[in-house]
Amino acid sequence: MCLNDYGSPTLVLQKCRYAKIGAMNETLGLIVNRKSTREFLAKAIPEETKADIIGATLRAPTAGNLMLYSIIEVNDQAAKDTLAVSCDHQPFISRAPWVLLFLADYQRWFDYFEFCGTGDFARRAGLPVRTPAEGDLMLACCDALIAAQTAVIAAESCGLGSCYIGDIMENYETHRDLFKLPRYTFPICLLCLGYPTEAQKARLSTSRFDQEFIVFKNSYRRLGESEFEKMFAKEQARAFKNSEELDGAVNVGQLIYRRKFTAGFTMEMNRSVKAILKQWDND
Ligand SMILES: Cc1cc2nc3c(=O)[nH]c(=O)nc-3n(C[C@H](O)[C@H](O)[C@H](O)COP(=O)(O)O)c2cc1C
Repeated sequence: MCLNDYGSPTLVLQKCRYAKIGAMNETLGLIVNRKSTREFLAKAIPEETKADIIGATLRAPTAGNLMLYSIIEVNDQAAKDTLAVSCDHQPFISRAPWVLLFLADYQRWFDYFEFCGTGDFARRAGLPVRTPAEGDLMLACCDALIAAQTAVIAAESCGLGSCYIGDIMENYETHRDLFKLPRYTFPICLLCLGYPTEAQKARLSTSRFDQEFIVFKNSYRRLGESEFEKMFAKEQARAFKNSEELDGAVNVGQLIYRRKFTAGFTMEMNRSVKAILKQWDND
């Protein structure tokens, strides 16, 4: 049985449509049927399989073909145990057979620039002398996340399940020291991978919002009252099935505001990300 973000079972609301897409071609089937895996068999992943997945990952699209990311394979059990605590207390991280940390990384290029004498070159050529900044960071984050998602799909095709850990953006100081992260890197996501248990395979997929609320044509469209009611109707009915109030909240918006938007881990993530951004700041 799957527990969703509110700690309750969820239904596949669009099961029929998914099944139809899945029948269309194998790749779509793989993507549509993927679900996060948080319980793994104690079965080692063959090195060849890992190599295949990493090989596919490195073929991900990358801005300017610069590969503005690095991947750290976390084999050390003590490091995994630390992550299981520092990433908002998620014990399954320490049990994951394969843990990959994806970094947005401008450090490698910046070091290479210095190696190539780009400072003198820029002054002679009348080019700006600069260090990596916000735009460079965003681009590097795009690269790292696209690589991570490529790893997810590659792993899925090899029978491996995976789960993102966004909480890697918390507790920056701990992660910086643990992985010796230099200034122009940003730990953007962690992936836990392994063979899923039977229970994980059997659990229902989580639902998604209908596409009319997510996909727009030509310009952005802010949603109004009636659309919000429609968008959240199923979730409202499900979450408040047994009680009119949950933690003082009477609707999904209030519930998410309390349990996610103002939760301790979110506050910590924002503090931690600010600390990372300070490092990227030019001065
Ligand atoms: C950026 C990002 C961060 C996430 N962080 C976590 C996390 O810290 N812990 C966790 O258990 N799942 C995490 N997830 C997984 C989501 O909870 C999951 O994708 C979502 O509930 C939908 O379920 P599904 O992947 O099974 O379809 C994360 C997913 C993304 C994309």
